[in-house]
Amino acid sequence: MFGFPLFPDSASTIAEEVDALYFFLVGLSGFFSILIAVLIVSFAIKFRRRHVDEVGQQVHGGLLLEIGWTVIPFLITMVIFFWGAKVYFAMANAPAETLNIYVVGKQWMWKVQHVAGQREINQLHVPVGRPVKLIMTSEDVIHNFSVPAFRVKADVIPGRFMQIWFEPTKPGTYRILCAEYCGTQHSRMTGEVIVMEPTAYQTWLSGGAPEGSLASTGEKLFADLACNTCHRPDSRGRGPVLENVFGQPVQLHDGRIVTADESYVRESILTPAAKITAGFQPVMPAFQGLVTEEQVLALIEYVKSLSSQQQGEPVRPGPIDPARGETTPSTGAEPRQR
Ligand code: CUA
Repeated sequence: MFGFPLFPDSASTIAEEVDALYFFLVGLSGFFSILIAVLIVSFAIKFRRRHVDEVGQQVHGGLLLEIGWTVIPFLITMVIFFWGAKVYFAMANAPAETLNIYVVGKQWMWKVQHVAGQREINQLHVPVGRPVKLIMTSEDVIHNFSVPAFRVKADVIPGRFMQIWFEPTKPGTYRILCAEYCGTQHSRMTGEVIVMEPTAYQTWLSGGAPEGSLASTGEKLFADLACNTCHRPDSRGRGPVLENVFGQPVQLHDGRIVTADESYVRESILTPAAKITAGFQPVMPAFQGLVTEEQVLALIEYVKSLSSQQQGEPVRPGPIDPARGETTPSTGAEPRQR
């Protein structure tokens, strides 16, 4: 109507399922709202007082009616519950094989880091027809990564990694929005997902990155920070061996067992004393404030690359197009706020 977009495009595998549930809920709410309004008005007319001394007739009980108005709403809410749970689980559980991409939210931009090394600001290139998993964190305050056309949305929280996944179904450009108030430029914290045909995406990827893959950047950093003096592959170092650790359970010195996921590796870099591996001394220095979130991502990706069964995109080194390098949009000089 008048070219005004009332409803976002539907461009991911989950979009139709979300829409079906949404329209069902709107329809259901509309049906009962109208039914109740019509009944109120018609009963008010039908049972209106006709004489000044008219007294209403008392009604005692009505078992069938009471069972009816208990059982029918119960069944309707159960339909909503199971349908909603089905869609929720489909959105929450990513397929085993996904293309993994890191996203860092920052006042007021989205920084995207591809495993192959490419970096983007407020743009995200993905191939059509392939499940994509975004591993997201924030550098400052809580943001919310939202792509309405894909019906995906998640808070992006400093200090931890949030994940969402989607499978784009048609090439095109779709809006990325920040859906959580995060400061003065919040409304301008937008971007675009560019969904490409697989061949065009491969061409884009082979544009490459100057520093090579994210894992190789991490490997270099690992040496620069002298991590390799303690974390040695031969188990004679002062720190745990990192080979084949990612994704595996880790026994801590206090008896707890945790999974070595992205958040665990990040915490172990920034505040190592928080979780000490069983059999080791708390000798590692904290890197909080010494490495950026992007450097942490590179180190995580390097640790991942040390595991034989790593997931996601195989590492593809190559050159980058300087025209597509990092550019920082003007963010003004406002102080950080939440
Ligand atoms: Cu970031 Cu709102």
